[in-house]
Amino acid sequence: MSRKPIIAGNWKMNLCQNEAKSLFEGISAFVSNYKATELPTVVIAPVFTSINQVHSIPCDCGCNGYKLSVAGQNCHWEASGAYTGEISVEMLKDAGCSYVIIGHSERRQYFSETDEMINKKAKAILAGGLIPIICCGESLEQREAGVTDSWIAGQIRKALEGISSDDVAKSVIAYEPIWAIGTGKSCDAEEANRVIKMIRSVVAECAGQASADSIRILYGGSVKPSTIEEQMSKSDIDGALIGGASLKADSFNEIIEKTMKISSSCCC
Ligand code: PGA
Repeated sequence: MSRKPIIAGNWKMNLCQNEAKSLFEGISAFVSNYKATELPTVVIAPVFTSINQVHSIPCDCGCNGYKLSVAGQNCHWEASGAYTGEISVEMLKDAGCSYVIIGHSERRQYFSETDEMINKKAKAILAGGLIPIICCGESLEQREAGVTDSWIAGQIRKALEGISSDDVAKSVIAYEPIWAIGTGKSCDAEEANRVIKMIRSVVAECAGQASADSIRILYGGSVKPSTIEEQMSKSDIDGALIGGASLKADSFNEIIEKTMKISSSCCC
């Protein structure tokens, strides 16, 4: 089963408009040198106020997809209304986004997001024609207590509840062990692959084997140019969600470049 890799940059709460613009220029210049068949799907997620400084780059094969896509870092599940500080799927779509990151551990931890909220967001994103990047992952305490697999399986079952098999197949999951995020200490690639295989088996249980074979599951947590090749050599790791190393064009482009060898389809 060949799944097109995704390299996604999560810029988090960084970069004002002029900084976002120059980072985007560095990435888009690099991506523009290659055909979509050579590239992984590249996704960047700026802060909302900098989305107007970046744009998606259409695929060059004549399809309707993109070789570089823009993502929101969060959304609300309601279409509009009295939700101060929130943003809807339609608004992200209107601004040019085609992906939305949801359930990031920072949102779960600092903004009390629950699995139920993440499930509502995933449904709203898919109903709006966008693709959710659903994050999951265990804390160091959970890993040490030996509950990693059961914890993550629970997060995935709840996130996917009531979502059709077709919609699950086009979604993206990012496995991000919390202890590996921003620490410089990446999860061992073999172990990340084991957890991702386990996630794929939970997806099969929720939505069938065909969806489990199609869904792209990324690894995230201190991914760097020096770690990506080993991570991408594993059977079930379909790409990476990258924080720190996505904030410099050089390191992000190097990660894209090292992923290119294994990319062989267009954007679709
Ligand atoms: P990091 O962040 O690459 O800086 O560890 C990853 C993430 O939080 O998505």
